[in-house]
Amino acid sequence: MNVYDSWRIAAMLDARGMVATKDVADADIIILNTCSVREKATNKVFSELGRVRDTKKPGALFGIVGCVAREAGATAFHRIPELNFVLGPQSYHRLPQILDDPDTKLLNIDLGGLEKFDELPQMVHAPTVSYIPIQEGCNHCCTYCIVPYTRGREVSRAFDDVVRDTLHAAKNGAVEICFLGQNVNGYKYTDENGKTYRLSDLIRAAAKMPEIRRIRFTSSYPTEMTDDLIQMFATEPKLLPFLNMPIQSGSPDVLRRMNRPYSLDAYMEIIDKLRAARGDIQISSDFIVGFPGETDSDFEQTLEIARRVRYINSYSFKYSPRPHTAAATMPNQIPENIKRERLAVLDNALNEIQREFNESCVDKTLPCLCEGTDKTGRHLLYRTPYMQQCIVAKPKDDNIPTMANIKITAANRASLRGKIISD
Ligand code: 5AD
Ligand code: SF4
Repeated sequence: MNVYDSWRIAAMLDARGMVATKDVADADIIILNTCSVREKATNKVFSELGRVRDTKKPGALFGIVGCVAREAGATAFHRIPELNFVLGPQSYHRLPQILDDPDTKLLNIDLGGLEKFDELPQMVHAPTVSYIPIQEGCNHCCTYCIVPYTRGREVSRAFDDVVRDTLHAAKNGAVEICFLGQNVNGYKYTDENGKTYRLSDLIRAAAKMPEIRRIRFTSSYPTEMTDDLIQMFATEPKLLPFLNMPIQSGSPDVLRRMNRPYSLDAYMEIIDKLRAARGDIQISSDFIVGFPGETDSDFEQTLEIARRVRYINSYSFKYSPRPHTAAATMPNQIPENIKRERLAVLDNALNEIQREFNESCVDKTLPCLCEGTDKTGRHLLYRTPYMQQCIVAKPKDDNIPTMANIKITAANRASLRGKIISD
């Protein structure tokens, strides 16, 4: 979502005739788009802002947008008085004001708006993989998570607006669409005639666009995987056989304290249904270790579920206490060294599963999408339907197929190697 927000801000600056520079000392405006999900990222923002202040040229504007801006509000100006603007994740469309009137201090951390989606210009060239936000905010209120505070309650965008943005992306270069939302499968929009649209309707609409060859969505809440959506994996070949569906923990006790009230049986039933719909579907997850009160046996259950589901690609984090969240004041906070140990054990287990899955792909031929070249310029980077990176030698004739069937020749934990069979 942050990447998408940054695109829209960049498109606005482009439209005003500005050009990007990698050199902070050369920039007329420096904008840090920020994430506050974990404390470490938040702290980095303020040290980075201090560096920008000391490096930027006199008169250059600088500020923060996104969730750290929302969390810090006016206190950001106390910490760094030279800041020109502090704009929350739902008010960054007000940035043009600071360009029009550089002498003001702009503070806006309001919530509840979908305005930003319509106010800033769209990108002229859509990236090959284009993100399309369909809802924002979250009603789940997991006890560790700051998102409901920073991005507010769930709001779904109008069906027609999402279709319009998807079509715009398709007509301007997008080949893959990734529908985005903090709780993407909770998407629900009722139009003025009382017709209700769900994520499955959006997938169907995008699949009708000939330019769009692949569709995916992230991030899903397990118990909101409704049957209409699961069926899309059986009926819509453009929908990739890959799903990010975070479980967070394998312990029912921890899940209850996290306010994620699903049972492991219910979670596994959803996985079984998904696999029945599409035999080759692969799942990824997010995990939090060291949640308050997590015992060794709770942690063992997380390892167990990871091995049982065989997640092929996961993100795991040490629990980080966040302001405005219930878990931050829960008793039995786990010491840092135990969190660190558990994270290393979990990462090892997840890496092993990922390596085994990657190795099982060797000798298979997979339809892949080209996402660019590596740093040397000698290799092409493709993405398999399971979101693995596949490295391919660049053809001598410079014929770079956007989509290609690639035979996988080698694998390690992080990536695959392959050769183009046909496009
Ligand atoms: N501490 C650690 N990880 C967190 N996440 C969200 N909040 C926290 C927190 N307080 C993780 C969850 C979520 C991902 C985006 O970030 O795993 O799925
Ligand atoms: Fe945060 Fe995701 Fe839970 Fe919503 S469902 S509160 S975004 S972790």
